[in-house]
Amino acid sequence: MPLKHANSDTAGDAVGPAEAYDWFAKTLHWGMAAALLGLGLLGYYMSGQPFSLRTFKLFDLHKSLGLIMLGLAALRLLRRWQKGAPEPLTQDAKAWELLLARIVHLALYVLMFAVPILGWIGASASGLPMTWFGLANIPSVTPADKEVQDWAFLLHEWGVWLLLACVGLHAAGALKRHFMLKDETLVRMLPFGWALAARLRR
Ligand code: HEM
Ligand code: HEM
Repeated sequence: MPLKHANSDTAGDAVGPAEAYDWFAKTLHWGMAAALLGLGLLGYYMSGQPFSLRTFKLFDLHKSLGLIMLGLAALRLLRRWQKGAPEPLTQDAKAWELLLARIVHLALYVLMFAVPILGWIGASASGLPMTWFGLANIPSVTPADKEVQDWAFLLHEWGVWLLLACVGLHAAGALKRHFMLKDETLVRMLPFGWALAARLRR
């Protein structure tokens, strides 16, 4: 099912608050961006720690938060399918830039699912018990298997690097549109909206 755009019946590039992302989309966007960064840092930190109960707890925390990210990604995609997103602003943007932005958005969605799912597969294949904040057991999605575990964790890590590369491109595009093309692309995603963005650009 293709993702739709909200307000697709609105012509032209004039953007008002009605065409901004709603508070729910903005909260998910910036909240998940911060949480993904934090989880990546936690992932690298815990992987370098010596084996101990504390390290085991850090792994459990990482898995529990990672599964919340997976749930939020699903919620976000569902919401996007239901409500769509504002049309991309086409004024002054080149066709290849718009195409690249679309491809990067798609890649970000794929990685928001692939990274936690690969972590879940790797953790299941390790055969170790998993709990969600110590409150409930996390089900295994695959039987214990060292080869599957190694592959899944390798791809989990590569997925994080790919995610970082895509976020870099994505952020560079947003900043270029804000400071060079001077359109409303970044403004309509900012939590504090129009006033803050106008000040930033000055
Ligand atoms: C989007 C969410 C996630 C992000 C950004 C993330 C990020 C990372 C990173 C950066 C590492 C360190 C990579 C390395 O040094 O090998 C890591 C390791 C790990 N992650 Fe995740 N992770 C996420 C979700 C999950 C989930 C949902 C699980 C399991 C249910 C999980 C389980 C693990 C485990 C067990 C390791 C240690 C791998 C090893 O021992 O080599 N992660 N994660
Ligand atoms: C982990 C970090 C990030 C992820 C996963 C992410 C993901 C996405 C996705 C999938 C969209 C498409 C709209 C949607 O369905 O929500 C989007 C839109 C947007 N993002 Fe991000 N983003 C991240 C970080 C950033 C950063 C750091 C910036 C700015 C510097 C940024 C600026 C924007 C803007 C301006 C839009 C609206 C684009 C438009 O209206 O065409 N994002 N983001």
